[in-house]
Amino acid sequence: MVSINWKVNPKPTKKQFEEMKFIPSTLFSKTAKERFSKLDKDYIYKKATEELFPIIGNKELCEFIEKEISSNLDYYSKKPAIKVIDLGSAGGSLSTLFLLDILGKHNLLEKTKLVLIDVSEKALESTIVGNFYLPDLLFEKYFSYFKSAVEVKAELSKAKYFCSGITNLPKNIGQFDICISGFTFHHLNLQDKQKATSEIERITLEGGVIGLVDECLTYEDYCDWLNAHKNEFNSSGEQVPLAQECFISLEEQKSFFKTLSIKHESKTRYYYCLCGIKQ
Ligand SMILES: C[S@@+](CC[C@H](N)C(=O)[O-])C[C@H]1O[C@@H](n2cnc3c(N)ncnc32)[C@H](O)[C@@H]1O
Repeated sequence: MVSINWKVNPKPTKKQFEEMKFIPSTLFSKTAKERFSKLDKDYIYKKATEELFPIIGNKELCEFIEKEISSNLDYYSKKPAIKVIDLGSAGGSLSTLFLLDILGKHNLLEKTKLVLIDVSEKALESTIVGNFYLPDLLFEKYFSYFKSAVEVKAELSKAKYFCSGITNLPKNIGQFDICISGFTFHHLNLQDKQKATSEIERITLEGGVIGLVDECLTYEDYCDWLNAHKNEFNSSGEQVPLAQECFISLEEQKSFFKTLSIKHESKTRYYYCLCGIKQ
């Protein structure tokens, strides 16, 4: 039986680290909402200046999507609409931005219907109204279609959005050609990772593209991260609280998919990336 402390443990033992995946989901969603509501404006900026791997990981995911799009360009160009969804897309959402950049590069933005999901209402609103900072680095080094923050924010403002957990998406949300989730699954406990995987499969069209990238930190790297973030502040000088997290391996995450034909997988020190086609 795992004992419940209704706060994130800032100094877990190795055993407590291994048991984090059994902590009740309410602690995960409550602390994610608190953290990302405070990080709303600063999330992407901090990634670009403090830890690059979420940028690299989302780029890798979208490189797979770009390969799929360019090998089926005729199909996508003839479709009247391309429905795409990003699960966990607050604070500007790097995952969404990389996806839109690829769609723009292939002249598909006009027919793109974007849906954004997040558990934090405030952070989701920041994405939609463009209330976040975008570092120059993204334009200089990573985007090929977008040239300015104004262009990016204009695209995001057209999105439809739902404040919802990704384990229980709105029943009538429809089905999507492309479903992605970037660095969100470590905010779910083990059972919820399984539920969210089923939701991804439910809402993706047969033949549609699924892309998942997430953190898989070791105990030592997680402790270093906690140490570096124990006194974190946002640009308004407010303290940013920790969110409950837990990590599983690429292999374990793969075992949750029932209808995914895997076409790309990779594992680095900090993240795994898993992409494929829904059967
Ligand atoms: C680390 S951020 C990643 C944002 C974006 N996908 C990216 O790659 O930049 C994780 C996001 O997941 C959201 N989140 C956490 N738990 C969630 C849940 N159960 N359902 C929906 N969103 C959740 C957080 O509010 C946050 O916006």
